Amino acid sequence: MDKAQSLKLKGVEFSPPLLLAPMAGLTHSALRRLILELGGIGLLSTEMLSAKRLPMENPQLSPYLVRAPQETPLSYQLLVSRVEEVAPAIVKLHALQADAIDLNLGCPAPTVRRMGAGSRLMEEPATVQAIVAAARKQTDLPLTAKIRLGETLDELKLRNFCLMLEGEGVELVSVHARLRGEPFVRKPRWLWVGKVKGWLNIPVVANGGIFSVEDARNCLAQSGADGLMIGRAAAVRPWIFAEIAQAVYGLGLEMPKVDKPLLYQRFIELLEESFLEERRLGRLKEFTHYFAKNYPFGHSLASAVQSSDSVAQAKERALVFFARNESPCGGHWSASNSKI
Ligand SMILES: Cc1cc2nc3c(=O)[nH]c(=O)nc-3n(C[C@H](O)[C@H](O)[C@H](O)COP(=O)(O)O)c2cc1C
Repeated sequence: MDKAQSLKLKGVEFSPPLLLAPMAGLTHSALRRLILELGGIGLLSTEMLSAKRLPMENPQLSPYLVRAPQETPLSYQLLVSRVEEVAPAIVKLHALQADAIDLNLGCPAPTVRRMGAGSRLMEEPATVQAIVAAARKQTDLPLTAKIRLGETLDELKLRNFCLMLEGEGVELVSVHARLRGEPFVRKPRWLWVGKVKGWLNIPVVANGGIFSVEDARNCLAQSGADGLMIGRAAAVRPWIFAEIAQAVYGLGLEMPKVDKPLLYQRFIELLEESFLEERRLGRLKEFTHYFAKNYPFGHSLASAVQSSDSVAQAKERALVFFARNESPCGGHWSASNSKI
């Protein structure tokens, strides 16, 4: 096996080195549990959590904090804009038994940037330095940072920024291999992840555009990254971690037999177990937007669910779609025969 099979941060091992990318509206308890049941994940993630609001959130009520006991290891991503927000947020993350803490330094959304957070922070290295130092002082948990490549391709600026992160005690950097303004249709710049890897002594994880085992291999070949972080494909093909864990990292896990309609229904069950009724439909619509990409006529599944008024109606419409579009000879997957 030529690839390292785990990431070690502060003596804690994350194996395989496959990370779930934080995604607002998607990486909640239900999707995380589905991924766990399918296997192959090394580190789960929440979606970005406002550091300012986090101390006031009730973990029993907040849909962002709902977590089942089996969801571990789980990294919590903080969206920070001011250094004062860091300590109280981390106190809360300790109480929530976070397994790792990630700093969002890459989100390009205008609303986030206007708050002075996400990718805006890559233009404010002094603020980031203070934020990381405050975080490092407050926690012994693994501390990671997620970045994009910056505003323009500027090696010196990016290198200095990454070295600053490492110098202040960040223990892993994940790199979404695009510039701040680059849309998802643009090919990710995996070679640039390799540059970051070359500058740092801490592990560097590649993110962006990994949808298959082949993509994983190409990305690793181009970047030499210590691990991979997967976002949208986790909602399209939640079994992708198991595939890559086996094919790329040689983990001896039994591949789940994937039956997409069953898997979709399992996701609905998990939504029902995790969330109050009024929180479920929006999350089902968000997931379906991605899951529908498994089908040549997936847009009709996505729009049928999108226009539904209830989870029951969405499920009924999805089952009609599956009956018309799914080959009847798929294997069977269920939580009970998964490897978790
Ligand atoms: C719906 C959606 C929500 C996202 N939310 C976050 C977030 O909360 N924090 C973050 O750092 N990145 C967020 N991202 C970016 C992803 O973490 C990831 O960097 C990006 O999707 C590229 O990876 P992929 O090609 O594997 O999807 C989001 C992306 C999507 C599609």
